[in-house]
Amino acid sequence: MGVKKQIAVLPGDGIGPDVINQAVRVLDTIAKKYQHDFSFQFALVGADAIDKTGDPLPKATLDLCKSSDAVLFGAVGHPKYDQDPNAKVRPEQGLLKMRKELGLFANIRPVTTYSALHHLSPVKSNILEHVDIEIFRELTGGIYFGKKETSADGKTATDTCIYHVDEIVRIAHLAFKRAQERKRKLTLVDKANVMETSRLWRKTINEIAKDYPDVEVFQMFVDNAAMQLIINPSQFDVILTENMFGDILSDEASVLAGTLGLLPSASIGTGTAVFEPIHGSYPQAAGKDIANPSAAILSAAMMLDHFGLHQEAIDIRNAIDWIICNGFFTKDIDPINFYFTSTIGELVCDFVTNRVEDAIHKANIQLRKSTII
Ligand code: IPM
Ligand code: MG
Repeated sequence: MGVKKQIAVLPGDGIGPDVINQAVRVLDTIAKKYQHDFSFQFALVGADAIDKTGDPLPKATLDLCKSSDAVLFGAVGHPKYDQDPNAKVRPEQGLLKMRKELGLFANIRPVTTYSALHHLSPVKSNILEHVDIEIFRELTGGIYFGKKETSADGKTATDTCIYHVDEIVRIAHLAFKRAQERKRKLTLVDKANVMETSRLWRKTINEIAKDYPDVEVFQMFVDNAAMQLIINPSQFDVILTENMFGDILSDEASVLAGTLGLLPSASIGTGTAVFEPIHGSYPQAAGKDIANPSAAILSAAMMLDHFGLHQEAIDIRNAIDWIICNGFFTKDIDPINFYFTSTIGELVCDFVTNRVEDAIHKANIQLRKSTII
C-alpha cells in the first residue's frame, strides 16, 4: 500500500494556476499508479489573496501550510504593484512571510541543461556540456530579513545584512551532505573581501569542512562567480551562498538551461517544505495555456523525493526528458510550433502511465485531441 499525504496547493498569480494545475494532475496520476493517497487543498496567496482578503498570506493559508505534508507553490507578483514603489502591501510579502514562518532556511535550485535545448541559451553549446549544478541558497536571513528603515526626511534608506553562525551551520550541513551524494565539490560564494557577514560564512564553512574530508571546498567571490557561471559553468557542483547572492546567481544560472520554464526548486527547513518553479508569474501569459509547466512538474518531482518516493520522482524526470527529446515544446521554447501547457501535462501523465510508446500521434496532440490513438 502507498503513502498518505496532504498537499497544500497555492497557485498564486499569473501563470501560477496554469502550471500548478498540470503539476497536480501529474501528482494525481502518480498517486493512482503507485496507490498513494494524495489530497490537495487549495489556498490563496499573492496578489490574488490581496484582491480577495487584503492580505498576501492570509492566516487560513498559513495554517493550511503548517498542517500539510508539503506545499506546492505557483508564483506571485502583479505589475500593478511593481510600478508602485509606495504600495504598502505587496504580493512578494506573502512569499517572504511564508518562508520565514515555515522556517525554510534552505532553497535548493538544481540547474541542468538538455542538449536539445542548447541552442536556446545565449551561451555557446560547448560551454553548456556537462553542466549540472545545485545551488543552495540561504533563504530566511541576510539582507532580506535584516532591519530596514528610511530616515524621517526620506533621504536615507538602510537594509541590514545580518547572519548568525547557526544560520550558516544548518544550511552548510545540508549542502555538504548533498555534495557527498554528487560530485563532492562545494563552492562557497561570498564577498569576503568586503563584507563582514561573508567573513563569518568563510570561517564557519572552513570549520564544517573538517567534518566532510571527502568534499573539495572552493571559495569564490560573487563577482567572479557571476562571470564563471557564464564562461565555465561545468566547474560547479554544489554552490552554497547567502540569500541575495543566491537569488541573483540562480536567475543567472537559469540562462544556461535556455528557459526559466524548466527550473524547479525546493525550500526546506524546520517546517513544511515548499516546492515551486523558480520562474515568476508572467502575467501576460496568464490563463492562455501557453506557459511551460515543466518547472512546476519538476518541482512536484522534488516533492516526491522529499517524501522518499524516489522511483515516482524518476518517473516524472524521465517524462520531462522524453518530452524534450521528442520536441514537445511550449511557446517559450518554440514560438511557432508549440504545444499547450495542458498538452504537456497530459503527455507527462501518458508517459508516467506507460501509454506513449509508439502510439503518439503528433497531429492529434496539435489539435489538442487525445494524445493516444
Ligand atoms: C525568488 C524571487 C523572490 C526572492 C521574490 C519574488 C521576493 O525572486 O524566489 O527568487 O527574491 O526571493
Ligand atoms: Mg529571484
